[in-house]
Amino acid sequence: MPPTPAGRCVRTAVPWLEHLCDTGTNLLDSAPMTDDALSLLAAGAAEPGDLAVEGSLRPRTLGEYIGQREVKASLAVLLQAARGRGEAADHVLLYGPPGLGKTTLATIIARELGVNVRYTSGPAIERAGDLAAILTALDERDVLFIDEIHRLNRAVEEILYPAMEDFALDVMIGKGPSARSLRLSLKPFTAVGATTRAGRISGPLRDRFGMTYRLDFYGEDDLTAIVRRSAGILGVDVDAEAARLIAMRGRGTPRIVNRLLRRVRDHAEVHGDGTVHVGAVREAMAVLDIDDLGLDTTDRKLLAAIVQKFGSGPVGVQALAAVLAEEPDTIEDVYEPYLLRLGFLDRTPQGRIATEAARQHLAALGFDIPAPRRPEPDMPALWDDVPHR
Ligand code: ADE
Repeated sequence: MPPTPAGRCVRTAVPWLEHLCDTGTNLLDSAPMTDDALSLLAAGAAEPGDLAVEGSLRPRTLGEYIGQREVKASLAVLLQAARGRGEAADHVLLYGPPGLGKTTLATIIARELGVNVRYTSGPAIERAGDLAAILTALDERDVLFIDEIHRLNRAVEEILYPAMEDFALDVMIGKGPSARSLRLSLKPFTAVGATTRAGRISGPLRDRFGMTYRLDFYGEDDLTAIVRRSAGILGVDVDAEAARLIAMRGRGTPRIVNRLLRRVRDHAEVHGDGTVHVGAVREAMAVLDIDDLGLDTTDRKLLAAIVQKFGSGPVGVQALAAVLAEEPDTIEDVYEPYLLRLGFLDRTPQGRIATEAARQHLAALGFDIPAPRRPEPDMPALWDDVPHR
C-alpha cells in the first residue's frame, strides 16, 4: 500500500486531529473541530490528553481494523477497484451510533487510496461559499469527510449535489434578471458522509452516495481483540479475562472500551503494580459506577425515570429530556441505541417503554420498581384484567 503522500498538514488545537497530522494525514486549512471530537469532549469522555491517546489507538489500515467484517470486505473491493482504475472512489455514506469508527474508516479510506483526507462537519459549513472553498481546495481523488452530514443546511446541500454527481460547482453571477449560472469544474473527489441519523438525510443527498454502510455495535470477541490491541499499543499488561471483562462493559463501542482500558490502567497503576487483572477491572468499574452491562449513571437514570416517573412508559423523548436535563438529540443518539440493543427499551409510536428486562436489571441493583401502567406488549393476556394506574 502506498504511503499517504506528504503534503500540507495544518495543525489545529484538537489533539487527536494533531495526531492525524503526526501520522501523515492532511487537514483542511480551516478545519473546524468536528462533532466527533466535540462529542467526545461533551460526553466528558476524555481529557485533552485522552483525545491524543484515542487518536493513537485508531487503526490506520483496513488490515488493522477489527470488526465490521461485511463493511470491510465491501470497502476493500470498492477501494481496490478505484485504485486499479486510478479514479476517485465512489462516495460513501457511513451511519450508526457514535464511537463505532466512522471517522476512523474515512481516514482509512484515504490512506488505502493514497490520498489526503479533509475533515469537516455539517454544522461547521454555514454558507454555500464555505463549501465552495473546501471543494475547490481539494486535490485530485482526495477524500472529503463530512461528519454529521444530516446537519448540512439546504443551501449548502444544493452545492453538494452537482459537486458529488458531476464534480461541478455551480456559481451564480449577478443578481436579478441578469443573473446567470456559471459551472466550474472540480477535481474528482470522494465524499465520505457520516451520520448517526440516516433517516434525517434528504433523499436527493442519500441518492448521491454510491455505497451506504451501516455500522453496528461490535460483538464481545471483536471488542476483546480491540482491548488487547490497544493495550499492546499503550504498553499495558492485560490478562485475557480482564480484557474480556472490559469488552463486556464497553457497550459494543470501541471508543468506550478504549476509554475504559485507560481508566483501568490508571487504577492499576495507582492501586496496584500496573498489571490489569480482573480485580483491577472490577474495582475501577465500581469507582466509575459502571455496572456489569456497561451502563453508567445516566443510562440508569434514564431507565429509572421511565420506570418510576412514567409508569415504565410510554413516554416521549421531550419529557424524558426535561426530567434528565439532557438534549433530546443526546438521548436519541448517545444513550438510546445501546439500551434498545440490550432490549431494555422499546420505541413505540406512543413513546419509549422500559421493558421487563430493564425493570429486572434495575430491581437487581436495588431500585424501587412500581408496577407498569401499561401491559407488556408480549404479555397482553396477563394484564387484561389488571387495572392500569
Ligand atoms: N480502535 C478503535 N477502533 C478499532 C477497531 N475497529 N479496530 C482496531 N482498533 C480499534
